[in-house]
Amino acid sequence: MKHIIIFDTTLRDGEQSPGMSMTKEEKLLVAELLDTMGVDVIEAGFAMASEGDFHAVKAIAEVAKNAVICSLSRAKYADIERAGEAVKPAKRGRIHTFISTSDIHLKYQFRLEKPAVIEIIKDTVAYARRFTDDVEWSAMDATRSDLGFLCQAVEAAIGAGATTINLPDTVGYATPDDVAHMFRHVMGNVPNADKAVFSFHGQNDLGLATANTLAALQAGAGQAEVTINGIGERAGNTSLEEVVMTLKTRKDRYGMECGVKSEYIMRASRLIQSVTGQSVQVNKAIVGANAFAHESGIHQDGMLKHSGTYEIMTPESIGLTRSNLVMGKHSGRHAFKNKLEELNITLGDNAFEDAFNRFKALADKKKDVFDEDILSLVDGEDDSHALTLLSLAVQCGTGAVQQAEVVLHQDGQELRTTQQGNGPVDAIFKSIKMLVPSAESAHLKIYQVHAVTAGTDAQAEVTVRLEMGETIINGHGADVDTLVASAKAYLDALNKVDRLRARKDNLLEPVS
Ligand code: KIV
Repeated sequence: MKHIIIFDTTLRDGEQSPGMSMTKEEKLLVAELLDTMGVDVIEAGFAMASEGDFHAVKAIAEVAKNAVICSLSRAKYADIERAGEAVKPAKRGRIHTFISTSDIHLKYQFRLEKPAVIEIIKDTVAYARRFTDDVEWSAMDATRSDLGFLCQAVEAAIGAGATTINLPDTVGYATPDDVAHMFRHVMGNVPNADKAVFSFHGQNDLGLATANTLAALQAGAGQAEVTINGIGERAGNTSLEEVVMTLKTRKDRYGMECGVKSEYIMRASRLIQSVTGQSVQVNKAIVGANAFAHESGIHQDGMLKHSGTYEIMTPESIGLTRSNLVMGKHSGRHAFKNKLEELNITLGDNAFEDAFNRFKALADKKKDVFDEDILSLVDGEDDSHALTLLSLAVQCGTGAVQQAEVVLHQDGQELRTTQQGNGPVDAIFKSIKMLVPSAESAHLKIYQVHAVTAGTDAQAEVTVRLEMGETIINGHGADVDTLVASAKAYLDALNKVDRLRARKDNLLEPVS
């Protein structure tokens, strides 16, 4: 079996798209999960892009236990130094430097002649090697580059010390045949090609990113660059879950394996949805809500007789359980612990007690507590808020005055107000705004509700995104009552605003 290196760029290329910005705390949560699930390389950010990005990469480098931690860097000395500094604390750190190789980019964007590009590649790759032995070089827009020049550039990069060569389909233009041809040509014609691992980075503009990645791997690439849920620029990047599950499900076809524990996929997908507030489409391969749903009578009949009739992979293989262990208000500590084990969640004693108390509170309100509810409980909530919701009473419906009475608790004080609004959510937010002075300068950018499970008693997960000058803040709240979840999400975001103001430590990065 050929081992494929999984390079996850959710925190760099994934984050580099509208609506996907994450705070340093959120990036740490995501990185921790990627590290646990067996991703080989985590591209944690672009250290030179901002102070926030630099600190996030550095913080991830400090805590990662297994994965190589990587920072992107343009072909500039200052960028490389910054990337080198950010990944320094990592057990294994990588600098990923790049420059374009296509005629169109060189002529219109970089305004460089090809010989000058070769010199830049040699200088910058050699410079990056001063900081780490692990240097990746990317030929941006490789799939639209002249193959002869691409070979010269790759040879120069390997000669200067690059250990990974990435040939991206930057604009999502290539087809699987083009990609396979490019890899075979470059790997077959560059004299020192055997000194580096070849990698592919696909964009999904034509919906071909996963197919292209698999073609690259079949043609000899040893690393796949992916993101959770396929998030990324424009139509997104190759999605981790699609590549990992294809390699696993079609071992017979590809004869390749990777180190990602697929049982964590659903959890990772949900975490990204929760921190970004961007849900995946219901029919998204692997992680969409319908990916394992069987609606038609013929399919249901087959499923009841043998799940293999209509299921090519099991829900369990991505971390969804079909277990008989129904969690509810009668479930005790032991059952809860078993369920966490089943879901691959390990918590310390205090975190376990917190999660158990939240589970009991939820089970009081909701008959059946699904795995998704538990994942949401564990990933989404933070009890250490200064501002907490004591009570919420809402009046709404046809013909009624839409109003909310909100009671908050902060520093031993009870704060109470009743405000009217344009609908119940507006009334709640107006009430909270009235009670929390910091809300004045934080502008609401996104309000999004996501039902965690099916059914009218589903837990609602709400994301609120605020913008404060150059800073974005995401707040999350989960509850069976959508209005309570909305209030919690707004308060969560405002607590972050307060913490940011108090610490002024660049915890949150500017919107780019
Ligand atoms: O899409 C792209 O070409 C990139 C490179 C920097 C790898 O993101």
